[in-house]
Amino acid sequence: MTARLIDGKAFAAALRARIATLAAEFSATAGRKAGLAVVLVGEDPASQVYVRSKAKATAEAGMAGFEHRLPAETSQADLLALIAALNADPAVDGILVQLPLPAHLDEHTVIATIDPDKDVDGFHVSNAGRLAVGLPGFVPCTPLGCLMLLRDQLGSLAGLNAVVIGRSNIVGKPMAQLLLGENCTVTIAHSRTRNLADVVRGADVVVAAVGRPELVKAEWIKPGAIVIDVGINRVPGDAPGKTRLVGDVDFAGVSAVAGAITPVPGGVGPMTIAVLLRNALVAAYRHIGDPLPPEAI
Ligand code: GUN
Repeated sequence: MTARLIDGKAFAAALRARIATLAAEFSATAGRKAGLAVVLVGEDPASQVYVRSKAKATAEAGMAGFEHRLPAETSQADLLALIAALNADPAVDGILVQLPLPAHLDEHTVIATIDPDKDVDGFHVSNAGRLAVGLPGFVPCTPLGCLMLLRDQLGSLAGLNAVVIGRSNIVGKPMAQLLLGENCTVTIAHSRTRNLADVVRGADVVVAAVGRPELVKAEWIKPGAIVIDVGINRVPGDAPGKTRLVGDVDFAGVSAVAGAITPVPGGVGPMTIAVLLRNALVAAYRHIGDPLPPEAI
């Protein structure tokens, strides 16, 4: 059996086109563009790439991007003061602070300082709590992107066994909450789970977000299962000095067993940015008191 390839790149491109249309309507209604502020502290190379992609996508969607690049030694007080200024800025609808932060900064305090109504990452405890109790709020971009792909593949997810591998606040925990909201039976597995292979074998849906290159093997997968690979791991390539990107799933092996699978790159990655734009647009409409239903996109 050969798995269907889930083309996240094409899905994300279609989503971004819809968002661009809605963003133009927003600009006409509000007399200004929807605004997304992105804050990067330090020079982490991967974060720099992500922030550059986010800025480019924001402009392409017809939104205003406000980029704040701060030196690695920025004090907590200065970072909190910037966030307070962005909270108060009427041109800013959404605020994203790129993670990870340098070690001397307290991530929880920084996130807690973001106005929950501008928290387009969905990381504020208020939004995490809203997701947990089933109230509307901002949902983290990567898991929401995974859910969109799953709904597109399966329609209803009700009654399916879902295994999420990974328990991060950014992906694993919100992914599990979302799947529970879809009436799946959800297991959260992680690096300390015993008999991980046996746990995964019972899954109709597998979401791998554990950060271990090619951990998930073909023998772990129930034939026909849907496999979503959130991992982005850089490993040595074939030639000396070369590297390549792989996910948390052994793609070659698993794609012979699964019903459908996301590739790395080109699967979940492009969805994260598309959902960020979606969340920013939802924030912008809410900001002007116009209730764009999240279902609109
Ligand atoms: N670092 C890795 N993923 C993310 C994300 O989705 N948002 C932010 N702010 N930082 C990240």
